[in-house]
Amino acid sequence: MELELKGKVAIVTGGGWGMGKATVSGFANEGVRVVIVDFDEGRGNAALKEMKEKGGEVLFAKVDVANWEMVKQAVATTLERFGQIDILVNNAGAWQTEFFVKQKREDWFFQVDVCFYGTLNFIKAVIDHMISRKTGSIINVASDAARIGEPNQPIYSGAKGAVVAFSKALAKEVGTHGIRVNVVCPSLTVGERRSEMVEKMKQENPEKYAEYEDQMKKALRLYPLRKFGRPEDVANMIIFLASDLRAGHITGQTISINGGYCMV
Ligand SMILES: NC(=O)c1ccc[n+]([C@@H]2O[C@H](COP(=O)([O-])OP(=O)(O)OC[C@H]3O[C@@H](n4cnc5c(N)ncnc54)[C@H](O)[C@@H]3O)[C@@H](O)[C@H]2O)c1
Repeated sequence: MELELKGKVAIVTGGGWGMGKATVSGFANEGVRVVIVDFDEGRGNAALKEMKEKGGEVLFAKVDVANWEMVKQAVATTLERFGQIDILVNNAGAWQTEFFVKQKREDWFFQVDVCFYGTLNFIKAVIDHMISRKTGSIINVASDAARIGEPNQPIYSGAKGAVVAFSKALAKEVGTHGIRVNVVCPSLTVGERRSEMVEKMKQENPEKYAEYEDQMKKALRLYPLRKFGRPEDVANMIIFLASDLRAGHITGQTISINGGYCMV
């Protein structure tokens, strides 16, 4: 499907791994020039090398999305190098898996900082530029946790819920400037993080691994398609939403890519 994305410029946060990396790869295949933002240098550089080997025009910026100064610098570098920013994907996320009653107050902040303030930071840093060019597509990655609330992930659910509500408000504010703002909500998606974690568990703690496998089998029953997501499933929707040609009338929407896990 022609998407008319060739030559556009995208920033993808958390682009070193998982859905972020799959999105970078999908954009590179479409001829989009991409800035991979990640705070992990190893992951960022590995993704950069992989994309370059495939012929992609990509940069890596080592940035913590929660750090406003680093975010401003990354946007300035992107504009210096590529001259424009057409697409922003706020994908970096952070969570703690623990019941609210057991979480300490100190545990809240990094989740809100990365999921919500990280998203605000990048949007604040690019929005005047997008307004001046009267074009832009912003895609924020939230979670089904934002839509239904996940026990064990209460702060994360709240921070991602804030991303959903904020995105709708912003879509209403900036639509007249030709800027679209949408949200994608994955459910359980198996990327490098989970694969590494499971492999380690298998090697180091076979008993815990057997318990985990059992839990996953039970969890799978909640997915009508009887499969968990792949990073590419989410990336495909992000890339579609980035296209003015194909998604030019879509803004303020929250779309789940979840094998039917929740239907709201
Ligand atoms: N994987 C899932 O099951 C799942 C489900 C629902 C929602 N999500 C959301 O989807 C998004 C992507 O998830 P994933 O599983 O692909 O993630 P991941 O953990 O595999 O990769 C995230 C990448 O973001 C980077 N990152 C983390 N914090 C950062 C920060 N502060 N600044 C810059 N980079 C940072 C990491 O280094 C990593 O490369 C996240 O927002 C996550 O909350 C994931």
